[in-house]
Amino acid sequence: MSSPRKVVIIGAGPAGYVCAIRLAQLGQQVTVVEKEYLGGSCLNVGCIPSKAMIAAGALFHKIGNAGVMGITATDVKLDIAKLVEWKAGIVGKLTGGVGGLLKNHKVSVVYGAATFESDSTLRVSGEQATTLQFDAAVIATGSVPIEIPGFAFDEDEVWSSTGALAPKVLPGHLVVIGGGYIGLELGMMYRRLGSQVTILEATPGALPGQERDCVKVIERSLKKMKVKLRTETFAQGYERKGGESHVRIESKRGEETIVCDQILSTVGRRPYSAGLGLDEVGLATDEWGFLAVDETMRTAVPNIYAIGDIAGQPMLAHKGSREGLVAAGVIAGLKEAYDARCVPAVIFTAPEMASVGLTEEQCTEQGRAFVTGQFPFAASGRAMSLMETEGFVKIIADAESDELLGVHMVGPEVTELIAEATLAIEMGATAEDLARTIHAHPTLPEAVMEAAEAVHGMAIHIFQKPK
Ligand code: FAD
Ligand code: NAI
Repeated sequence: MSSPRKVVIIGAGPAGYVCAIRLAQLGQQVTVVEKEYLGGSCLNVGCIPSKAMIAAGALFHKIGNAGVMGITATDVKLDIAKLVEWKAGIVGKLTGGVGGLLKNHKVSVVYGAATFESDSTLRVSGEQATTLQFDAAVIATGSVPIEIPGFAFDEDEVWSSTGALAPKVLPGHLVVIGGGYIGLELGMMYRRLGSQVTILEATPGALPGQERDCVKVIERSLKKMKVKLRTETFAQGYERKGGESHVRIESKRGEETIVCDQILSTVGRRPYSAGLGLDEVGLATDEWGFLAVDETMRTAVPNIYAIGDIAGQPMLAHKGSREGLVAAGVIAGLKEAYDARCVPAVIFTAPEMASVGLTEEQCTEQGRAFVTGQFPFAASGRAMSLMETEGFVKIIADAESDELLGVHMVGPEVTELIAEATLAIEMGATAEDLARTIHAHPTLPEAVMEAAEAVHGMAIHIFQKPK
């Protein structure tokens, strides 16, 4: 076995810490430099805390709507401080767990901000200031929320997602700027907890870029929940008067003012490389701030790698973790490459939405002939028993070969159901393969099987006109 290489990883998010653990498993000498918190944005102020609070919102909503089942709960109250404390407990357990895993794998953790001095030396500033030599370095510095003019984050009057995950009081009226992933997940969560919510979105619809038939279901749900979605609308600025924020907006209707007590600005995230000293090693980011990498996660400097949000779209935790595993293997001398056929996307709206592979629009753009099959949750016994019958599963298959090209879902637990579709696409399965797989009854995944059957006009629990 060759002697271990000294590897420094900058950033301990789901890209960096996963890479570190795999490198240690592969016998390398690993140091992680982290300037804020183990677990990165994902564990501390992103995926985990948001999903905890969204789960609380869903439970609160369900309790309030269980009357039809004969369950009437009276005096159901929300203690927001307790909710935030519970969420912080989950974050603490997970970040502590990452610390324990790094320790057990003998990964050194140095707290401080890393700056390149050369292609073999890093300076760490902060309490544990030091200089580190490396054979290979991995940049896993993630991303930060974008600020728009007039709405500087103070996490008091104007929240970024970070402030929105640690509320001191429940907003009476929350104005959300940006109807993307975070705007919809947290906007719907606050609505379920009891706030009035208005979402301002620049484009003509919510969740730009996502499968439009699924988004239609989400937009209908917003209406039903009485969340106001104002599309083609831009926030210009706000004034604080008498404890309220007067938000000036511009849309086709002209200029208006919306009065609220809380603003959440969530218009996207940008890759983060400030203070890294990329110039010192001759690296530059592209116009969006991303570092270009090849399929082995190498940057233009052969011993420097980049993974996670800094290395390009989609900015999702699981994509970063996979890249971390690839970079670790390559650094340790294994033959590895990032060759995922697809990356699933899950959105924790109400109902949930999940997608993997191509949309119909993308198939058309690529000139691929395709067929589709769809199955509604309204026809699923399991969905009925959960009182969550909105939505459907849609399957897109190649018209000739029947190979699965894309699967899109909106409805109950679809953030879990998408795993089956992801595996199927990754394994090159056909719609027939999915249809012929026996699915346990009564379960939600039966909807995936029936959608696959529907591709060939063979779904049992919906009527399909013979072709
Ligand atoms: P990060 O998690 O951002 O970690 C980067 C780390 O690098 C940070 O800890 C930072 O302190 C450190 N760092 C930066 N610069 C330096 C430096 N110079 N020196 C030392 N350390 C440095 N994704 C999903 O897949 N599913 C979800 O449900 C989901 N929900 C989200 C909800 C919210 C509210 C937000 C904001 C994001 C969500 N995301 C979700 C996105 C997800 O959080 C990111 O894709 C993921 O965290 C990226 O991982 P990363 O390791 O690249 O970067
Ligand atoms: P986003 O890119 O998903 O959405 C931003 C939205 O803001 C877009 O709809 C855009 O059109 C709109 N917008 C931009 N400028 C605007 C303006 N001036 N006025 C009004 N609207 C404006 O970004 P978001 O929601 O901030 O999330 C960042 C990223 O974090 C996501 O793209 C995703 O990669 C990740 N994320 C993933 C989650 C998941 O996997 N479930 C959950 C949350 C975040």
